[in-house]
Amino acid sequence: MPVLVVVGSQWGDEGKGKIIDLLTERADIVARYQGGHNAGHTVVVGEDEFILHLIPSGILHKGTQCVIGNGVVVDPAALIEEMDGLLSRQITFDGNLLISANAHLIMPYHKAIDIASEQRKGNRKIGTTGRGIGPAYADKISRSGIRMADLLEPDLFREKLTTRIAEANFFLEQFYHAQPVDENKVFDEYMGYARRLKKYVADTALLINQAVAKGKKVLAEGAQGTHLDVDHGTYPYVTSSSPTAGGACTGLGIGPNRITEVMGIVKAYTTRVGEGPFPTELQDETGKLLQDRGREYGATTGRPRRCGWIDTCVIRHAVRVNGFTSVAITKLDVLDALDELKICVGYTCKGKQYGEMPSEISLLVDCTPNYITMPGWKQSTIGITKYAALPKKAQAYIEKISRLSGVKPALISTGARRDETIVLEQPFKGTTAPRKKAKKKTR
Ligand code: IMP
Repeated sequence: MPVLVVVGSQWGDEGKGKIIDLLTERADIVARYQGGHNAGHTVVVGEDEFILHLIPSGILHKGTQCVIGNGVVVDPAALIEEMDGLLSRQITFDGNLLISANAHLIMPYHKAIDIASEQRKGNRKIGTTGRGIGPAYADKISRSGIRMADLLEPDLFREKLTTRIAEANFFLEQFYHAQPVDENKVFDEYMGYARRLKKYVADTALLINQAVAKGKKVLAEGAQGTHLDVDHGTYPYVTSSSPTAGGACTGLGIGPNRITEVMGIVKAYTTRVGEGPFPTELQDETGKLLQDRGREYGATTGRPRRCGWIDTCVIRHAVRVNGFTSVAITKLDVLDALDELKICVGYTCKGKQYGEMPSEISLLVDCTPNYITMPGWKQSTIGITKYAALPKKAQAYIEKISRLSGVKPALISTGARRDETIVLEQPFKGTTAPRKKAKKKTR
């Protein structure tokens, strides 16, 4: 019953899309368990680049069952746009894509509140993606959310919409001085989405549990990253869901004892989008070099990502809260041009030394990183597929990170393409061969 959870170890954008796509070769089911279309997973297949926001990256593999779990918040307009984008590129998914009936909907007032709230916060803003993610999760928790199943019952949908939109519009108009949302227009629009999405809606928790019982391999796809987790991240500068491994249980409806492996995705340096503390951030030429070489611009919003050195306090924290059984190190090749590399091993804050990430954000803001320096390898690692073929200095860098983080790499990514990967240990332990040959689907 292997269930492998893939989690970002930093602030998202670690290159999960490529790793998930690669792991999908061995998976029967790929399931997203949290977040929404704030995520942007980039996958390169041959010469083609795909950016997926809501649909699991497994959709690019023929025959893989893809699930949008109950923990995800779904903007139906964004989902349909993504579906149409795939169809226009000859990727089909009928029978292979299912959406949990319990997944909550992102409504137009969620997006309006997200944007108005950020504007009102001024320089205390979170830097959200403006997709309505936070307000949709807030409604879920306050029990005023509308779920996928409700969308399929017009009378029930109308009733819930009428109640909630009255409150939302009052809030929008009276508190934010923003435009209200038209109830009839929303109703008609969403009934159109219902007609299109109806056939994909299912009890996905039942499906996943039945598959697990039959020994099928499930890949749980995390979006964002550990330090954007609403509980374990740099609150309040976080997203509103639980990207950490525990989120896979609640977000898919599986027991913790079903999870057999947790793989952390560790970018060889650090990036962050939006506001919030980032101790190893580089606001200099080196930061710019990482941004350019790593193409560090948001796949969802196009915003430039803040870049900095790798921080092993951040990785160790992620190892603890997720229980990583292995890691995949990504974007190693981005560091090829550097003369030397720094690794953060602790912090100094107000004259005091910290060996681990402080949980109080007020402390983290004032932390200065303590670095060790390693020589750069100054040669290309792009496309290397054997560990022994890596420059010795690159091997030393990886081994240092692994030792300081306390977890071994299973995969090292040396480029955007599927085959630009060093496989040190096969994921889905105990299985030897890919489930099927990965190939691009054609209609
Ligand atoms: P929200 O998820 O749109 O509410 O945004 C909250 C914070 O999470 C902001 O700092 C965003 O930039 C960040 N964020 C959300 N999704 C992603 C992602 O997929 N990658 C990186 N950062 C993200």
